[in-house]
Amino acid sequence: MCGIIAYTGRRQCKDLLYQGLRKLEYRGYDSAGLAVLADGRIEVVRAVGNLDSLEKELAGNGCTGASIGLGHTRWATHGRPSTKNAHPHLDCTGKISIVLNGIIENYQELRDQLASEGHKFASETDAEVVSHLVEKHYDDDLVDAVRRSIDVISGHFAFCVIHGDHPELIVGARKECPLLIGVGEGENFIASAIPAFLSETRDVMVIEDGEMVVVTPESIKIIDLDLQPVEREVTRVSWNAEAAEKGGFETFMRKEIFEQPDALADTMAGRLPESGGIVLEELAIPNEELAQIDKVYIVACGTSYHAGLVGRYVLENWSRVAVELDVASEFRYRDPVLSPTTLVVGISQSGETADTLAAMRQARSQGAKVIAITNIMGSQATRDADGILYTRAGLEIGVAATKTHVAQIAAIQLLALYLAQIKKTLGSEELEAIIAELKTIPDLMREYLKNESATHEIAKRYYQQPFFLYLGRGVGLPVCLEGALKLKEISYIPTEAYAAGEMKHGPIALLDKGSPVVVVATDGHVYDKVVSNIEEVRARDASVIAVATEGNERINSLSEDVMYIPETSEMLSPLLSVVPLQLLAYHIAQLKGCNVDQPRNLAKTVTVE
Ligand code: AGP
Repeated sequence: MCGIIAYTGRRQCKDLLYQGLRKLEYRGYDSAGLAVLADGRIEVVRAVGNLDSLEKELAGNGCTGASIGLGHTRWATHGRPSTKNAHPHLDCTGKISIVLNGIIENYQELRDQLASEGHKFASETDAEVVSHLVEKHYDDDLVDAVRRSIDVISGHFAFCVIHGDHPELIVGARKECPLLIGVGEGENFIASAIPAFLSETRDVMVIEDGEMVVVTPESIKIIDLDLQPVEREVTRVSWNAEAAEKGGFETFMRKEIFEQPDALADTMAGRLPESGGIVLEELAIPNEELAQIDKVYIVACGTSYHAGLVGRYVLENWSRVAVELDVASEFRYRDPVLSPTTLVVGISQSGETADTLAAMRQARSQGAKVIAITNIMGSQATRDADGILYTRAGLEIGVAATKTHVAQIAAIQLLALYLAQIKKTLGSEELEAIIAELKTIPDLMREYLKNESATHEIAKRYYQQPFFLYLGRGVGLPVCLEGALKLKEISYIPTEAYAAGEMKHGPIALLDKGSPVVVVATDGHVYDKVVSNIEEVRARDASVIAVATEGNERINSLSEDVMYIPETSEMLSPLLSVVPLQLLAYHIAQLKGCNVDQPRNLAKTVTVE
């Protein structure tokens, strides 16, 4: 987590760094800071809290006149959020400054060693050891000092360093955490993510794992750890700066919910040709090998895991293949049974989630084929996989995932249909019928989103409730899990999500008169079973808020409130049924006055274990 940015050029850098950090704020907002270098002196300004606090600090501070500097927005791992723990950090001389994203695993050992050699530490962070290590190894050559520091660090990181004696030079290094170069004219940027410099340049160079970069206003040199130059192409990204703005919506999350029809349509584009069937070009695993797959193992975290849960139902149903699923943080420390005929699917919108990446690597080392479903081109997940299936949701800034989630569901549905096509587990008529229906979903969702007022009214009635229970069966269960996660992460209301049939084995004890129970009761082969569970809820005088299929009048007499979604077949229904739950969570959080784009304690990209 954490966002870093560095600039060297001819322009005054304070505002460029600050604006870049604004775009990286989704990566962490416990504290933020800048270090700028002018006339051989480094000036550091830091503040606890999000970028608003830093803005205030900067207002009363010079920091002008410098055209090289570093910026950081922090998600705390080692050391609580405080000014002294905020980045950038300095060495003992005040001539070296660093910003770091990641974790230095052996920091305590390094810190003890450096302290015994006389270094004085100003923070409780792991990152500060890097500035002292560079100081220790510095002998007029900053690149060499960084290189020698990397040798003794273990962990995963991306960092940038400046030095008072090198008025134009930034040295960066990357191990597992993302780092990119924004290539300008007479100026260059280094950052954790493209939006940080997108308003200034769309020309990007990716720094790969185990590489360093040496940047001045006029030059960019990527080198490996043997200090040998590495050739790298400049890629022009198609995103524009507007994509990172709110475009008239009051929050990013709301904008992204309303972008879901486009995210779905784009994820399907070109993959469902007029001529019929499914085409998944980037998969890069030969069809003959896919035909042999006898088990699919899905690994992911959080919302991506919930998309994976939907995947289990569609893969079993359409492709008739055995499916296992685990949260990546568990999978990586188990001893899963994998073979060359196992297909492991890692789902991660960011493509940088540490646990998911570790699980994918472990699977690969055990000989399984690995596919990454991710939203970020060139992310680490794409390099740790044999094949890729991109979701094309566009940039998602809101920390609570919405449009990337529905795009992930669509991607795993496409994969299931593709396997069904190869394995011939669906007849061609049946396959084409599902494809035809899938193509209609973006428009159905667009129509649905025009009528969100019902959800808002429901939110007004329930937003002061202290607890929500979510129930569902079949494909409705992952939808409940996701709805409950959305509500808890953005409104801080405790929630529980359960398989409706399991309620009587424990959670029913939580119910009392008026307790809100959100039930996904869309049409499908378990609908009658869900109705029985609704009756059990009603018998305890709890209040049922149902998500049901348009045309189901009967559900009105069984529920206090109903959120209707357009009619779809059961296996495609999660694409639509999750939307009212996102909106319910959104409106409740807004009514409670919560910051939905930046929920407390969370970060968009979780690059730590
Ligand atoms: C989503 O709302 C969450 N904030 C979180 O659970 C997220 O889905 C999880 O951290 C996984 O991220 P990824 O998709 O980037 O791997």
